[in-house]
Amino acid sequence: MKNRINFNEVVTRDGFQNESLFIPTDKKIELINQLSHCGFSKIEVTSFTSPKAIPMLADATEVMQGIQRVEGVEYTVLIPNLKGAQRAMQVNPDELNLVMSTSQSHNFSNMRMSMQSSFASLAEVIHFVNQKIAINVSLSTAFGCPMEGYVDPRVVIDLITQFSDLGVGRLTICDTTGMANPEQVAQMAQLVTNLFPNIAFTFHFHNTRGMGLANLMAAIQNGITQFDGSLGGLGGCPYAPGATGNICSEDAIYMTQLMGHETGIDIIKLLESAKLLENMVGRTLPGQIVKAGTIDCLHPVLGNVQELMSS
Ligand code: COA
Ligand code: ZN
Repeated sequence: MKNRINFNEVVTRDGFQNESLFIPTDKKIELINQLSHCGFSKIEVTSFTSPKAIPMLADATEVMQGIQRVEGVEYTVLIPNLKGAQRAMQVNPDELNLVMSTSQSHNFSNMRMSMQSSFASLAEVIHFVNQKIAINVSLSTAFGCPMEGYVDPRVVIDLITQFSDLGVGRLTICDTTGMANPEQVAQMAQLVTNLFPNIAFTFHFHNTRGMGLANLMAAIQNGITQFDGSLGGLGGCPYAPGATGNICSEDAIYMTQLMGHETGIDIIKLLESAKLLENMVGRTLPGQIVKAGTIDCLHPVLGNVQELMSS
């Protein structure tokens, strides 16, 4: 029996935050409502960050209030600090996804503070929330930083230990700018699952160097069962130089399904959402299955080939 693989759809957060043209609030809500019926276990709806830092997601409260929640789907939101958590708590999300980096340069760029200050700020959020709502912590640049290069896994382990000591039981290991390779992912998966058997790990990949799906495979083969993906392959951190899209949800999910894993996701509905997204952003996105179709979308045998076959 193969592991069930769960996907968290992050397009309206990681995907939209890197778009230059503002996507209207009602369009965001329309997309999330469609995605809610595709079978995802979790959807990252938006972020409660500074509207100056991420103007695209300044409508976080309106979006959270406007969506229709579907039972069985967890609606999570990204949080950088206490102010974000206080704003988010007004709209009753199912989870807060706290974020900080594992490299100083990216943390200063993204959060405008040191890793130590971010940790202190997130610890404040954890005390404030006081177990009233589930908490996940996302550790950015965990496989490499676009400014500092390779990140020592000991830094990642140290941060996981510190968050675990604060009672955090869910952690996402993020490859923010596609620095990871499958061997590195396999080692990280083994390391974190062996050291922290009681933590639920999610892996978050970007396809910046074309290794996203290979990294997903390596993680699955090493026991990871939860992943972030972004519809159409949209995404990227605006404060990470050279950042590009996440692994494309529909491609990642389809590959996982073809390999015999249960995902609970309706790929046909998901492809409809991918088309809606392309209309919304007004350009072709990196996703492949939306262009090629599923493998049962067969092409007719051409007349001359039919003749050759029957002669
Ligand atoms: N939501 C809304 N407003 C916020 C806020 C939040 N979460 N955090 C801070 N602010 C406001 C403050 O109230 C203050 O407002 P004022 O100027 O009207 O007084 C202003 O922003 C500056 O506050 P400060 O605490 O000095 O924050 P900062 O400007 O140093 O920014 C962060 C720090 C972390 C809030 C900001 O860098 C941020 O939101 N980063 C997230 C980036 C991101 O999402 N990247 C992609 C995802 S990985
Ligand atoms: Zn990301």
